[in-house]
Order: sequence, then structure tokens, then C-alpha cells
Amino acid sequence: MEFLSGNFLCETIVPKGELIVSRTDLKGNITYANETFAEISGYSIKELVGKPHNLVRHPDMPKVIFYDLWKNLQTKGSWSGYIKNLRKDEGFYWVYAEISGVYKDGNLVEYKSLRAPISFEEKVKYQLYYDQLKKENNESIRKVIYQ
Ligand SMILES: Cc1cc2nc3c(=O)[nH]c(=O)nc-3n(C[C@H](O)[C@H](O)[C@H](O)COP(=O)(O)O)c2cc1C
Repeated sequence: MEFLSGNFLCETIVPKGELIVSRTDLKGNITYANETFAEISGYSIKELVGKPHNLVRHPDMPKVIFYDLWKNLQTKGSWSGYIKNLRKDEGFYWVYAEISGVYKDGNLVEYKSLRAPISFEEKVKYQLYYDQLKKENNESIRKVIYQ
């Protein structure tokens, strides 16, 4: 597959009604990815499985969000929130993610994540909010302009 150098700027829209599904082991390594996840992220399922989930981490995401994600998974068993993800071609896609545990015989064995599309207004809101969070935590930010 060939990609134009997206320079982090090309957005992939998650189609309405599509769910991006993945599961990870307890350390965040991908154990399952559905076809939609592969299509939207630009990776093949084979490339995704076995890799750490931070493969799709976007540089615009503040560190504190993932700190909060893992803390909530450990204390409450679930987390939900807005994530901007990085595609293989360095483009991006926004999702609303719900992450929770997968249990076998009452024991936590994996985590699963279901992700759905979000509106343009939510993307703008969370881009600004995450820029603000990065600024507050002295993380470098890029200026992103939505028109
Ligand atoms: C089930 C599950 C799904 C996750 N989905 C994403 C995701 O879509 N994008 C992302 O950047 N991180 C996701 N994470 C968090 C990553 O494991 C990782 O913590 C994050 O990308 C930040 O990378 P870092 O921990 O290396 O700083 C997920 C974690 C779990 C357990």
C-alpha cells in the first residue's frame, strides 16, 4: 500500500454505525483487532496483533489522558473518553472509546475497547481541551486549525 506523507494532517472519518474493536492483554498489547480497526488505522490485522496499543498513539494526545485511562482500568475496571489516534500513514482519526475488562472464571484476563465515531463539534472541543492540557503540563503542542 502506498501513502502520501500526511504530516499528521489527513483525517480519516470513522463511518457512522461502524465500531472499531480491539482487545489487549493486561499490559496493553493487542490480542484482537476487527476489520474496521485495520481499515481505519491503515494497518493490517496481522500488523496490529501482538503490538502494543500505543502503536496508534497520536502526538496530540496528552500524557495525562493515558495515565487516567490506566488508573481507571486498575481502580474502577473501566474508562471511557475521546481519543485522537494516529494512522499508519500519519493521518489521524477521532473516536469515543469505552474500555473495560474481559473476565474468565471471575478473573480479569484482558481488556476490550469499543470505539465509535464522534461529531465535528466534539473533535474541535477535544482538540482545544487536549492542547490546553498539554500546555498546562509543559508538553509541546502543535497548532491545529479547524475550518
Ligand atoms: C483495550 C485498550 C485500548 C486502548 N486503545 C488505545 C487507543 O486507541 N489509542 C491509544 O493511543 N492508546 C490506547 N490505549 C492505551 C495504550 O495502551 C497506551 O497507554 C497509550 O497509547 C499511551 O502510550 P504510552 O503508555 O506508551 O505512553 C489502549 C489501552 C487498552 C488497554
